[in-house]
Amino acid sequence: DATDRPRISVIGTGYLGATHAAAMAEMGFDVVGVDQDPRKVEALSAGRVPFFEPGLPELIEKHVATGRLRFTTDIAEATAVSDVHFICVGTPQQATSFAANLSYVEDATAAVAKNLTHPGLIVGKSTVPVGTAARLRLLVARHVPAGVGVELIWNPEFLREGKAVDDTLSPDRIVLGGASPAAEATMRELYALPIAAGAPVITCDLPTAELVKVSANAFLATKISFINAIAEVCEAAGADVSVLADALGHDVRIGRQFLNAGLGFGGGCLPKDIRALMHRSKELGAHQAAGLMQQVDEINMAQRQSVIDKTVVAAGGSVLNKRIGVLGVAFKPFTDDVRDSPALNVAAALHLRGAQVTVHDPEANGTARANFPTLSYASNPLDAAIGASALLVLTEWPELVDVSPESLGEIVENRVVIDARNCLDPERWAAAGWRVVSLGKET
Ligand code: UGA
Repeated sequence: DATDRPRISVIGTGYLGATHAAAMAEMGFDVVGVDQDPRKVEALSAGRVPFFEPGLPELIEKHVATGRLRFTTDIAEATAVSDVHFICVGTPQQATSFAANLSYVEDATAAVAKNLTHPGLIVGKSTVPVGTAARLRLLVARHVPAGVGVELIWNPEFLREGKAVDDTLSPDRIVLGGASPAAEATMRELYALPIAAGAPVITCDLPTAELVKVSANAFLATKISFINAIAEVCEAAGADVSVLADALGHDVRIGRQFLNAGLGFGGGCLPKDIRALMHRSKELGAHQAAGLMQQVDEINMAQRQSVIDKTVVAAGGSVLNKRIGVLGVAFKPFTDDVRDSPALNVAAALHLRGAQVTVHDPEANGTARANFPTLSYASNPLDAAIGASALLVLTEWPELVDVSPESLGEIVENRVVIDARNCLDPERWAAAGWRVVSLGKET
């Protein structure tokens, strides 16, 4: 009976919350998404998603129409009509340190606790430093009205931007931290479909659940920085990092994924998560982990510098007053997200050195312009490249990987392309008269 099913509130409607809310509606539950930003609530209520995420607008539109999904700014009302409350707000890097800013998570959790009118289950999904959930339990105990039963558990999320809907509907695993038997039963009911499809459930304590998420991102970041460190050796020794990565990847213990050398990782998660882990590890006296994360971060940032240096060389020793064409500015393909984007970072650095930088990205021109209005933005690759002293490919969007070197060659005299994602076909570009500068190989 549908009326017996747990009703759901999702606090925070960014990538995580909006996708989770839509996925829960798709799995058959009544969901209310809560955000303090009235513009977001208005847009989502009309089936508009304020960021680019393939498949999400369709899913939200579908369930706003079925009536299973709605959005509000009123957390008190949402809490009163729900049984399970997912905390999906952000944990950005602090302005003045590497620590995570937990104020949104604390405020959202306290607000839910305060407004509980009947027994509830609070489920943390945000990425938090280990130890946060235990403190949130104390916060909940302080705010919950007398006599109302409440439990707080941790259920981290592993979705990728650009694949958020699929990742949420078909997770690799479901981690439940600190759940009582009753809470576990509720969560198994919520995730009945993915569990039936084979998603393993891992039950553990709160700190383990928090740390599974953080270590997953730390491992992915480490893998990328590892291959980028090896790329440095390849370049010095005349080896080819792409061939090397393919060969490594055949070992199933290593695997080919996340071994693409290049400009390194960015986005709203990996960079701030490894820094938060660095910070938290130091607090805990876990100095080896802190040191490892620091090295991963340093290698990653050095990739950006290396691309800037190669561009200066390609442009003849200086970029001052030279035109530089940049293809791709999102932190990865299939997103318009430019948070901590290595591509935007490189474009901005060249601009600050006096270059006239023109950028083209299939989706991220708007978000990039909002962050860096002084760059020029072009609606197609040709307009970005025209007259350039060097052309940079910084995000491996398929349409940029497949851009025609022949037509670009007609409008560019100094035919040198910096392939910062090792994504171009060097033979094709060479045949069209281009010098291709790659990372981690002789060029
Ligand atoms: C990442 C994780 O992959 C998700 O599992 C996690 O849930 C998410 O963070 C999060 O914590 O919310 P996401 O930030 O969407 O997801 O991006 P990824 O697909 O992981 O890519 C991260 C960065 O690594 C990109 O800038 C990408 O260009 C770079 N990368 C990736 C490489 O430089 N080389 C590679 O081989 C792979």
